[in-house]
Amino acid sequence: MQLVIKSATQDNLEDILSLYYKFFKELRSRQGLSPRGIDEYREEVREFLQRDQIFVAFLEEKPVGFIHISKREGAHWLEELYVVPDYRGMGIGRKLVEKAENYIKKRDSAAYIMVLPQDKAAIEFWIHIGYKVLNTIELAKDLNSIQEEDTRVFEVFGYPFYIWRWRKEGYDEVERKYLETLEKFYKLGGTRRLYLEIVTAALRKWINRQ
Ligand SMILES: CC(C)(COP(=O)(O)OP(=O)(O)OC[C@H]1O[C@@H](n2cnc3c(N)ncnc32)[C@H](O)[C@@H]1OP(=O)(O)O)[C@@H](O)C(=O)NCCC(=O)NCCS
Repeated sequence: MQLVIKSATQDNLEDILSLYYKFFKELRSRQGLSPRGIDEYREEVREFLQRDQIFVAFLEEKPVGFIHISKREGAHWLEELYVVPDYRGMGIGRKLVEKAENYIKKRDSAAYIMVLPQDKAAIEFWIHIGYKVLNTIELAKDLNSIQEEDTRVFEVFGYPFYIWRWRKEGYDEVERKYLETLEKFYKLGGTRRLYLEIVTAALRKWINRQ
């Protein structure tokens, strides 16, 4: 089957809208939320087709994926990447990213992406194709109180790092055990310094056994 990747124009509005809607529907379902109606995304898509760069993948003329690149805050961002589920695992995602990277390379020295920490599959995909976790930590003060059961706690440099609990999380056994242990650690009053001391000691023990 022949794969063709094209730069999108306003003529591709309905194709991109359909893919963009599927992207949000899938993401929202994993979060336990519903997407807006498809027509509510039309204006957004029209605007980014005017302003940004979008590449669409066609397999035998059927639109099967897209990547959206924007320029903001002085950097090039990969905003969304999506491949229709039936066509995953065929190298289309990688080809779309390569196309975007070639586009960015002519204009800039790096491609950035923002991924939600719950999106384990996406993070693993980006790391697999050569991306590194870099730079940004978002801080927020919730002015209403958050229900404890709505969040999970990770850690960043020993700081408790709260993320929304998604309906479909996909953690394996080791990851789940780690998250449960971490939650207990902070609940029992474990501090950042103590976390760093414990982890350092455990890692040193492992290193010394090698
Ligand atoms: C992420 C996504 C775009 C991947 O598309 P795809 O066409 O299936 O990916 P490819 O077939 O090109 O895979 C490229 C490589 O990544 C690997 N890969 C794909 N998904 C992976 C994952 N979740 N974790 C680790 N590796 C992954 C493939 O095995 C392949 O490896 P190889 O080239 O070394 O053999 C697709 O799964 C998707 O649309 N997901 C939903 C939306 C999403 O999460 N988008 C990204 C965040 S914005």
